[in-house]
Amino acid sequence: MRLTRRDFLKKTGILTAATALHAMPQQTIRARPVLDTKLLTPFVDPLPQPPVAQSSGTRPSPDNPQRQARYYQIAMQEFESQLHRNLPATRLWGYGSSFPGPTIETRSDEPVLVEWVNSLPQKHFLPIDHNLHGAERSKPDVRAVVHVHGAKTPAHNDGYPEDWYVPGKSAVYCYPNKQDAAALWYHDHAMGINRLNIYAGLAGIYFVRDDFEDSMHLPSGEYEIPLVICDRMLDSKGQLYYPESGNPEAPWIPEFSGDILLVNGKILPYLKVEPRKYRFRLFNVSNSSSFYLSLSNNAPFTQIGTDQGLLSAPVQVAKLMIAPAERADLIVDFSKYRGEKIVVLNNVLPMMQFRVASGAPEQKPLAASLRPVPKMLESTAIKTRMLSLDEYRDRAGDSMIMLLNRSRWHMPITERPLLDSVEIWELINTTDDQHPIHLHLVRFQILERRTFDKFTYQYKKTLRFTGPAIAPDANEAGWKDTVRAEAAMVTRIIVRFEGYPGRYVWHCHNLEHEDNEMMRPYEVVAPGSVGAALPSVTPPSIPMCSARTS
Ligand code: C2O
Ligand code: CU
Ligand code: CU
Repeated sequence: MRLTRRDFLKKTGILTAATALHAMPQQTIRARPVLDTKLLTPFVDPLPQPPVAQSSGTRPSPDNPQRQARYYQIAMQEFESQLHRNLPATRLWGYGSSFPGPTIETRSDEPVLVEWVNSLPQKHFLPIDHNLHGAERSKPDVRAVVHVHGAKTPAHNDGYPEDWYVPGKSAVYCYPNKQDAAALWYHDHAMGINRLNIYAGLAGIYFVRDDFEDSMHLPSGEYEIPLVICDRMLDSKGQLYYPESGNPEAPWIPEFSGDILLVNGKILPYLKVEPRKYRFRLFNVSNSSSFYLSLSNNAPFTQIGTDQGLLSAPVQVAKLMIAPAERADLIVDFSKYRGEKIVVLNNVLPMMQFRVASGAPEQKPLAASLRPVPKMLESTAIKTRMLSLDEYRDRAGDSMIMLLNRSRWHMPITERPLLDSVEIWELINTTDDQHPIHLHLVRFQILERRTFDKFTYQYKKTLRFTGPAIAPDANEAGWKDTVRAEAAMVTRIIVRFEGYPGRYVWHCHNLEHEDNEMMRPYEVVAPGSVGAALPSVTPPSIPMCSARTS
């Protein structure tokens, strides 16, 4: 028997008796009038760049009091920003007073402390679904907690989804930065409302730099440009609009796709460039949209890095696919295009424009090899886990819940890798959707993708492959922290759980899925610790950050 989402909620006791009594008519929602995008003249606003975060001095580093850590104080707050010249200002929630928030510049092995202050209003302006786990009516509407995506962070500073705090409170997190140069990003991670908080604008860049990267002499300073991209919908007044399901009691939607693209918080901006090489640091911070990017003059991108840093060698990419939370480090050489105007396209839709100056071209060659990426060998893995990605639909065929390994968030922890051990995770995607799967704390390599027989898997719990193993794309053959688990395929990754013991999470980075149970805790266990000997158990509640100020 198939259940509707409402039945499912009822069955699982999520729906209260009172709301269950009213049969809610579907599709009754009054959609807000949506902005006519034809009103927006393309390429009239210059591309903004997020400000660089300014530290307010140093403090002793908690992990090593002999060392000083740079100290930042960053507030989450409401502000207004003009997304396009033809629009009135749009209300946003963000870090500091910009979207993207202030860029945090760090160096490998130099610890940083950030006091994340929740100065948001008391009321949310986007539609909370109180049926979702962690977003019940008993919880405050406005909650926030910051996670630095891709950072190797001790567990109690990692922004555990249940470690949220309300306006007026703050937390000090320490980031040791014991990792290679990479483009990381910070964003909200509050349980059950994460999709709304990030949609409102709670995201920013976090760069780790190191000597090795410096030695490559890549374009830097004004020639290194971050491009933070996402899609949104605006109403006729130019305000953020987040669609609802049509059921006022359960407004959650299974994915978001907007008709407006923002680059660094602007719609259809332009950037003046010189006829030379530029380095673009691309971040897909969308809720659930992947982008398929190309240049209007058919010039390729040269990709030099992925989520967790440089590739071993540059890769030419004609069309760049980038899923939610993935990053791409790109070189574009404008020296051959003096005086041209080049549009960046997402499929066929314009996203932004480059205006190449007509001065003398500058051509400095790019190194033929970058940072070695030693291949992780399958023989080093001490465990292989089969982990399914599942979707449950209602009678109408609409998604109602997505799970990892058929388990919900609050069920006992099942993934308990040993600290420093290597494991293979087989992400068995039984759904017809791609899911960008992200593991906190670690970096990993993609081994392969492969089609499989769903039937044999569902009924016999064994994997019968139906096609050849497909190697990762050339631009994925580096260190990753987010991987596209393709529809109806097994995606195999190999991971070393290095860094710190403790409780982390892994999840789908489609934020609508993540907020509706497609997220699970996992625990890195120190060898020899009591926990290492135990079978899966419900973990003790996580200790609060010792540096929490209020
Ligand atoms: Cu981008 Cu759980 O993180
Ligand atoms: Cu993360
Ligand atoms: Cu998903």
